[in-house]
Order: sequence, then structure tokens, then C-alpha cells
Amino acid sequence: MATTTAQTFESTSPATGETIGVFPKQGPDEVDRAVARAKDAFAEWRLVPAPKRGEILFRLARILEQEKSALTDLMTREMGKVKAEAGGDVQEAIDITYYMAGEGRRLFGHTTPSELRDKWNMSVRQPIGVVGAITPWNFPVAIPSWKLIPALVCGNTVVLKPASDTPALGQRFFELLLEAGIPDGVVNIVHGGGGTVGTALVRHPDVRVITLTGSRETGVRVLKDAADTLTHVHLELGGKNAIIVLDDADLELAVDGIVWSAFGTSGQRCTAASRVIVQRGAYEELQKRLVARVEQLRLGPGWEDDSDIGPVINGAALEKIHSYTGIGRDEGAKLLTGGEIVSDGDLGKGFFYRPTVFADVDPQMRIAQEEIFGPTTALIPVGDLDEAIRVSNGIKYGLSSSIFTQDVNAAFRAMRDLEAGITYVNAGTIGAEVHLPFGGTKDTGNGHREAGQAALDVFSEWKSIYVDYSGRLQRAQIDT
Ligand code: UN1
Repeated sequence: MATTTAQTFESTSPATGETIGVFPKQGPDEVDRAVARAKDAFAEWRLVPAPKRGEILFRLARILEQEKSALTDLMTREMGKVKAEAGGDVQEAIDITYYMAGEGRRLFGHTTPSELRDKWNMSVRQPIGVVGAITPWNFPVAIPSWKLIPALVCGNTVVLKPASDTPALGQRFFELLLEAGIPDGVVNIVHGGGGTVGTALVRHPDVRVITLTGSRETGVRVLKDAADTLTHVHLELGGKNAIIVLDDADLELAVDGIVWSAFGTSGQRCTAASRVIVQRGAYEELQKRLVARVEQLRLGPGWEDDSDIGPVINGAALEKIHSYTGIGRDEGAKLLTGGEIVSDGDLGKGFFYRPTVFADVDPQMRIAQEEIFGPTTALIPVGDLDEAIRVSNGIKYGLSSSIFTQDVNAAFRAMRDLEAGITYVNAGTIGAEVHLPFGGTKDTGNGHREAGQAALDVFSEWKSIYVDYSGRLQRAQIDT
């Protein structure tokens, strides 16, 4: 890749330490150049008819389908998730690309009557300009697609900064966009750390929208950095999502949901179920069944067919996750299973952590309040639905939530009262589909949603247009 800096960084596999690729460690100069290219390209891209922009995206969707298995493979190696989930990550990108390509022929606005005669009123979506997309490593193809594809169909141009843990996947996604026929300069990529290229992108006066998926801490910093230039900021931050299991729940189904939501992607999803709130009548039995299932989970490299759980992303993450096991113990929670770094054999070369379940967790403990972002979940016993909802809501985040019950009244109360952007009934906390809004309340974000129609609101601005064909001056609010 063309770069003026001699500095590079390596991407390595979290399962084995093998080198995946070497990438330029870029800086503010490259950000300036990328933004300038994007700004130039905006002048023309905004005028390309939206259905034509959609056609390019349809081509991209087909290319992503053809490349699904290669991308899946690369993802098992660079990010670490297991094959089925890596395929799912790519599938989410395919799904949003088809969905948003279709928006090229919709992008509906409104027409509405005027208060005055012989006057036409309408509102239309307009592109905003250069979008800076800062994307995480946990969904290294899906999340860039959630951000870039709606931004592009709306007519914006983009500078992508993929996570420095997954640059090869970011780079590949970028190349496929070009292959699909996205014109020069419309999409650009910069590699490097958040503190350097990320910050330069956020502070750049020509970047009009920043979309970030990351930690709460990064989100706050980005908001502050973007304040001076009044840049629009879309944030999708942390979660501390809970599954509620009531006494009347189908326990086998609940255990399936917990195992999938707590340990899928090694717990490294914003939507992961890091708390399980269980009504006392089901508490003992649920613990027994859950532990039995968790202990059968097979750790291994993502590319091997019989791996259920891959590594976590890097050494710092492994240490952080393990430190929470210590915190949980010190707080008096009961460790039912897991709580160990795998240090022997082949797996010892990677960052593998045994799936961990704590029981008898108090809702105020740190392991029940803070985002661990690893394969650790906390069982919290409660008396009834009201207490379950209170505990579920008793955190600063509000991304996903779930309830297992056969009682329709309880389910509807949960749907109304859980403070979260997403609620599942009789399903775990993960598995959002791309045509619905995705995002959370409270500290999970700043009110925006990605995916679904809601994504269009992040990447376009409304313009209201009044056409007076009366041939005389008509004054709104005055001439009646
Ligand atoms: C994330 O972890 O940021 O619903 C995204 C899910 C996935 C997306 C997760 N479809 O878990």
C-alpha cells in the first residue's frame, strides 16, 4: 500500500502468535491526505444517482458472497472467532449490503401539504460529507459494513480506520469495495492506533461525521474531541447485558441461550450476556445444567471444525479478563467453573481463557457492573419479575436484554420496562438482524442507532424544501 511512513506494525493470530501481515503505522499526515481525497470525491459521488450507488453496492454484496469462505478463513486466523461465527460475521455484511443497496431506490423523504395555497412541501435526505469510521476488532467485517454501506448509499465518502488488531480484514474489505466499482477516493483507509490516526480523524475539520464502535471511555474522548468542530458523532459503546430466567422458563432452552450468548465469540460481543438473573425457583437446577454444558465446550483455534470457543483477542484482554476472576473471588462470588488461563499445550501459545461462571453474585459487585468483554458470566438470584427487571436495569449500559418465560404478561412487561435498545423474548442477548435498528440506551451510546432505517439518520441530513407556485409572495404564519 502506498505510504510515506517507514514504520509498520504486525498483525498476529491470537490463537498461535503467527504473523498474519505487516501494515503501515500511519499518522496524521496520512489522515490529512485520506480526508482530502474523500472531500474531493464527495463533490462527484453526492451527484451519482442513489440507484446507481445502490448498483455498485449490489455488486459488492455478490463479491462478498463469493469471498465469504476466504474472509471467514482469514477471520478465524486474524481475529480468532470460530468458523461458524466468522461466517456469520461475513453474512451480516452481505445482508446489510443487499439491504442498503435496495435503499438506493428508496431513501424515502416526505411530502406534506402546505398551509398555503399553490405551494409544495417536501423533505429529502441529503448526504453530509466525509464520514470517519472507527471500527472494532470483534466484528471486523460486519461492523465496517454497518457503517460504510449506509454512509455510501446516502452519498457520503468515507475514511475507514479499522482496529489495529484486525488490519488485514479491514484492508480486504476495503479492497473488495474498490473491486465492486466504488470510484477512487470515495472510500479510503488508514491504519494505525486510535490515539494517533483515530484522534487525527476525529479532530479533522473536514470530517463531518464520526461513527465509532468501541468502549465507553473511547466514546467520551471522541465526543470531546469532536466538540470543537461540531462534528456529528454516532457512538455504539459497551454493554452489560442480562438474560432473565423466570421459574416457568423452558430451562433447556434458557441454557442454550445462555451458553450461546455468554460464550459465543468468547464473550467478546457488546451484546454478550455477562449477567444471568435467575428467579430462585429455577436457580439450583439452572446452575447444574449450565455448568455441565459449559464444561463440555471445546476450546481451540477458530479454523478447526470441533472448536466451540476461540481465543480472546490479545494478551492485554486475557489479563483483564483474568483479573476480573480475581475481583469476583475477592468480592465473595462463587466460582462455579473456569477462571483460568490455558497455559499448557498448543493452546498455551494463544490467548485462551476457560469459560467462567460465577454464582451468588450481588448486583452491585464489579463483575456484575463492569464490562469484562470475555467468556465470563455472573449468575444473580432474584425473587420475582419486578426484582429481575430492577437488577437488569441497575447498570449504566443499555444495549441488549432478554427474558425466558412462558408467561405472556411477564414477557410484555419486560418488553416495556427493560432499559435497553434490544430485548429478546425466549432467546439470548445476541443475534441482532441488520434490518432493525441496533444500539442502546443510557451509556451504550448517544441516542443514535446503526443498521435498519435508523442508520440512514446517522448518514444523512434532512432538507425541507418549499416550492411556491402561486406567483406571489405568500407569508407562512401570516397570510392565512
Ligand atoms: C457487537 O458486538 O458490537 O447481535 C455487535 C449480535 C451481532 C452484532 C454484535 N449481530 O450479537
